[in-house]
Amino acid sequence: MGKRSVPETSQNAGPHIPVLLDEVLAALAPLEGKRIVDGTFGAGGYSRALLQAGAHVVAIDRDPSVRPFADALTAEFPAQLTFVPGTFSELDTLAAEHGPIDGVVLDIGVSSMQLDEAERGFSFMRDGPLDMRMSGEGESAADLVNGLEVEALANLLYAFGEERKSRRIAQFIVAARETAPIQTTLELARIIEKSIGRKPGDAHPATRSFRALRIAVNGEFDQLVEGLFAAERLLSAGGKLVVITFHSLEDRIVKRFFDPEKAAPPSRGTCRRLRARPCAGPTWPRRASPARPS
Ligand SMILES: C[S@@+](CC[C@H](N)C(=O)[O-])C[C@H]1O[C@@H](n2cnc3c(N)ncnc32)[C@H](O)[C@@H]1O
Repeated sequence: MGKRSVPETSQNAGPHIPVLLDEVLAALAPLEGKRIVDGTFGAGGYSRALLQAGAHVVAIDRDPSVRPFADALTAEFPAQLTFVPGTFSELDTLAAEHGPIDGVVLDIGVSSMQLDEAERGFSFMRDGPLDMRMSGEGESAADLVNGLEVEALANLLYAFGEERKSRRIAQFIVAARETAPIQTTLELARIIEKSIGRKPGDAHPATRSFRALRIAVNGEFDQLVEGLFAAERLLSAGGKLVVITFHSLEDRIVKRFFDPEKAAPPSRGTCRRLRARPCAGPTWPRRASPARPS
């Protein structure tokens, strides 16, 4: 539907401010009694507006730290909101018992709360452990940065960050970790800055690499592809799917889903099993007939 224009690293420490809210509401038309899945609950900005319009909402998020927002909103709308922890790649099974579903919204990426909290390790501007796991489970960014071969690391930075200097950055990372493992966000940001320099007025040189690591750590492109197909399976006839993307790689995946004939395949795909298969193509399910936005 559109791209978000929030800065990658926000200075706000408060809850996430929902973007494109009016457009989301206009597209979903959440009239009383409608059933909508908010697959990326965050601080609940979309869910709140949908509930206020009278819809029933099944809200999903993989990050356990959103729980207080979900509990507070459930207390306000006990008969209308159900919060289910989990990933939107399985939204059809998570929401199946609440069907039929009239709309699904996915607001792709990280929230400003995740970026702002140094302990989560998402930001190159705040010193914290090199973590980046939304769910707190699985391999962290430090595991990838310290464990991948130089080529796999370069491929990751290129495929998921569109970082043209990926090879040089990967070489610097591998040289630096020979002395000691890289453990913090600022350590990594400094190594990247040393490897490719910094031009005044340009974005921080670590921007693309941090985004690439975050996407790999959270399997974001696999999640997106699987989430789109799960939404298609779940939605009732005439249902609406609304997706808000942040950057061009996400955008390409969504456009290809809506119009497989026209849109080019996403460039390199996912790094689900990095060690065995560095950046192989995405898992793209087959379907009988192309979906059309209604
Ligand atoms: C951009 S924020 C959404 C903000 C939300 N629209 C609001 O108004 O507060 C993205 C949220 O989606 C969650 N998320 C990202 N990927 C996910 C996935 N694959 N499954 C479930 N939740 C996910 C993140 O943890 C984060 O809380």
